Amino acid sequence: MRQKMNILFVISEAEPLIKVGGLGDVGGTLPLALINLPEDLTEQTEIDIKVVIPYHDHIKQKQWPVEPVASFQVLSRNGFIKTDVFRALNTDLPVFLVDGEPIRNTGTYNNNTYIDTKKYTYFSVAALAFCRTIKWKPDILHAHDWHTAAAIQKLSQIRSYDTFFSHTKSLFTIHNLPYSGGNHPDILYLFDIHQAFDPEIPDFMRNLPMAIGLDAADHINTVSKTYAEEILTDGFGNGYQNYLRSHSEKVSGIINGIMMDQWNPSAEKVLYKNYSVDTLSDRIENKRMLQQEMWLSQKDQTILFVMVGRMTYQKGFDLCVQALRQMRDQDWQIIILGTGEDSIQKACLSLSNEFPDRVRTELRYDEPLSRRMYAGGDVLLMPSRYEPCGIAQMISMLYGCIPVACSTGGLKDTIKDPFDHPTDYTGFLFSNPDVSAAEWAIRRSIAYYQDQQNWSQIQIRAMKQDFSWRNSAKEYFDLYKSLQICE
Ligand code: GLC
Repeated sequence: MRQKMNILFVISEAEPLIKVGGLGDVGGTLPLALINLPEDLTEQTEIDIKVVIPYHDHIKQKQWPVEPVASFQVLSRNGFIKTDVFRALNTDLPVFLVDGEPIRNTGTYNNNTYIDTKKYTYFSVAALAFCRTIKWKPDILHAHDWHTAAAIQKLSQIRSYDTFFSHTKSLFTIHNLPYSGGNHPDILYLFDIHQAFDPEIPDFMRNLPMAIGLDAADHINTVSKTYAEEILTDGFGNGYQNYLRSHSEKVSGIINGIMMDQWNPSAEKVLYKNYSVDTLSDRIENKRMLQQEMWLSQKDQTILFVMVGRMTYQKGFDLCVQALRQMRDQDWQIIILGTGEDSIQKACLSLSNEFPDRVRTELRYDEPLSRRMYAGGDVLLMPSRYEPCGIAQMISMLYGCIPVACSTGGLKDTIKDPFDHPTDYTGFLFSNPDVSAAEWAIRRSIAYYQDQQNWSQIQIRAMKQDFSWRNSAKEYFDLYKSLQICE
């Protein structure tokens, strides 16, 4: 008999509806990869996924077409909260949007932690109530990051007496451990969510959404195997390391995939010239035109670095800014793109001021430009202090832009350095997130770049890699299955 598996996939972002960071990529792509797993890999199991996200202001402003599917009340200690759920149309993704007063006029993420924590706690509880309303019993609750942790905790509280959820198992995926949510016990009380009780969780962290999710989850995973190991250590555990170490049997890692057809330099319309491994010599046109677009001198031999992403402490842009400052003796150019924390934006701008003929800093989110940078840049700098998975390094490799990155989390798991892989390396790693280590790795990339024939071989190896979701989606499926059978 054909088996069925119902997966409630609760997350704060899912592209194409809403994407602030890499979480939105996963929310929009992993569910599709699961649905599209070939039957022989799923033993004919019919996978039914419902992706549930908040009906963010931004989605309403975009006027994304929706249809109403359910209306119900969510209980709080201040009375009922009227809740509506809509299904998003015009997308293959089975995505459902939860709307209610705590979600409205809050932005996607709110700087006020009280508003944010209330929004997401309500959302998490509403996602479970939605299943009951439409009489759809989830086998797996798959929740992501602190925003949806309350769903995990609520489930563990009710399933002992509530037959509707008595067979539902929970998986909590950590995309970014240091983001724990706000410390607001009154919000937990409002929705009758217990605090984390495990003795290994520090007292002052018991009310944090991340803590309650970790504590109550049947299984915890992160988005790379290395990050799954790192979070057990004092350096990366953010206060949860003792808890995670004492429950290490329920912690694992699965690397994120990407939708390979969305990142294809041979078909991309926004590039100056399309190319593939077979027409790699055409790639130089993209470099020349990018230099022109950015008012940099058009020099084929000068190595062109690119740095793209959110300008947060995590991403470590400041390390490379300082390293490059110390490399006046070398010939290089760099284009930096992104927005974020003031101090990091200022650090990037000050490099532009010091090296007006070599550096361009563009403080904005601009996806077409980022694609032209991957296509025209020689090297991507990705000096993250920690990186649970990371997506830019995978995209840049598929575009033949070779990464220089810190050897952490998903960067370590997706980039091969010549030291460990003398014949099939695809990038350059440095082991400590500090300026001299970054400088050393950047200098190595420049040295390798001088041998253009070998460089083309590195590019070809990088471009030929398979970063598709297929293997990881299968790992998720197997994990769901293993949770389903353990009573
Ligand atoms: C977070 C992490 C990033 C990861 C993404 C998706 O943004 O910082 O490393 O790739 O989540 O899992």
